[in-house]
Amino acid sequence: MDHAESWYSTKHCTVHEFSCEEKMMWKRIQCFAKLSGYHIYLWERQSSLSLPISLSRKYSVKTSCDVDTLTVLGNSYNTDKITNVTPKILEKMGKNLHCKHNHPLNLITRRIENYFNNNYRNNWRAPMFSKFDRISPVVTLTQNFDSLLVPSDHPSRALSESYYLNSEYMLRAHTSAHQSDLIKQGLDAFLVLGDVYRRDTVDASHYPVFHQMEGVRLFSKQELFSHLGDTSRVTFFENGSRDATKQERHTVETSLCLEENLKNTLRNLANNLFGDDVEMQWVDAYFPFTHPSWELEIKYQGEWLEVLGCGIVEQEILSSAGADSRVGWAFGLGLERLAMRLYSIPDIRLFWSEDSRFLDQFNVEDPNTKITYKPFSKQSPVINDVSFWVPDDFSENDFYDIVRNIGGDIVENVELFDNFVHPKTKRKSKAYRITYRHMERSLTKSEANEIHSGIVAAGVQQLGIQER
Ligand code: DAH
Repeated sequence: MDHAESWYSTKHCTVHEFSCEEKMMWKRIQCFAKLSGYHIYLWERQSSLSLPISLSRKYSVKTSCDVDTLTVLGNSYNTDKITNVTPKILEKMGKNLHCKHNHPLNLITRRIENYFNNNYRNNWRAPMFSKFDRISPVVTLTQNFDSLLVPSDHPSRALSESYYLNSEYMLRAHTSAHQSDLIKQGLDAFLVLGDVYRRDTVDASHYPVFHQMEGVRLFSKQELFSHLGDTSRVTFFENGSRDATKQERHTVETSLCLEENLKNTLRNLANNLFGDDVEMQWVDAYFPFTHPSWELEIKYQGEWLEVLGCGIVEQEILSSAGADSRVGWAFGLGLERLAMRLYSIPDIRLFWSEDSRFLDQFNVEDPNTKITYKPFSKQSPVINDVSFWVPDDFSENDFYDIVRNIGGDIVENVELFDNFVHPKTKRKSKAYRITYRHMERSLTKSEANEIHSGIVAAGVQQLGIQER
């Protein structure tokens, strides 16, 4: 492998850096991703006299740091030292799967919207919840974090967790990023649907782009206690203390009433989607933007599956947004998780499939139609291991991004199966098992091997790993 290693670690070339002579020597043989400002090519040396062909292949990756500006959904952003979006991620933007007519995410979205429209009406009998499903996923760090009281040292702000366009803009990591703006606009009941972006592991239930629905409902004192008839005997706000069950500004009654309203709303939603027998449980949780907070888990294939986070909105968020006379609850649910459970979809990559054998199964007019996904192709996997020494600043998510950039949806799973520190040198080594499987057609061993070598090569170039 020495030869290959030294070859792979030769200077990384982008097309702009090729001299005329070099250009003659290299041939572009495959383009993995194409986007304005971004290209990932597989290069082959035209006349490899001294090296065997397999070793003379070279991946050239033009990363986001190599370009000065990025064009995302029609807007330009200057890149800077924290830019870490990848071409593969940008490629997914604007697809709006949740709005595509014959898509499972659209069916489940329509069911949830119908649930809210049928059960929650305002005084004029119009739907109470306004729906927003086209808000751009490019948000400021202020929207994604500060407006939600996420502390400056919170782990979710790490570069290894989210995708940043630059120091000011990022791809929203949750639909909660829009809560404050919509409350400022005067809305007191709304649903926000959209794609969210997180750097994450590679397996059947994690994908760096997924979809969420946010729900927020605010109440005046009259609304919250309307079931009591006479509201003059209950207190809405107090200057008290915070404990496990309430915030300092809320009375026990206010907090308990909000909790009950929130849990009923979501329990009924889960029953509406999965039937009255679905098993569910509430688990206490922590979010910077709600207190108290919970997660709802539902039973799926014998295991508890977390499907949403929720809680009582921090009063400080409401006061900053000009709604301090009200109190409220909020929730954020993961649409893929719900759809996987509802339609028995085994792998999250399938949501991105454009294969008619997948989409046709969801081509129904009535979103309540019962559908159980039938696998249309069962391909066998190709499994390759790689082990390498890592530099001190190695981040697993950087490696997963490389895997996704080069392997795309052909990579089904990446498993860290060995983590080793050399007893003498203290060098760290990691071993990953990568499962390659095409969801729609068969994948040859050599195709998978080629991608595997590309991943290792890019890891050497970009992360400074050294194959063992
Ligand atoms: N934003 C949270 C997440 O992505 C989910 C969430 C939790 C949303 C609590 C909320 C909430 O609105 O109140 O994990």
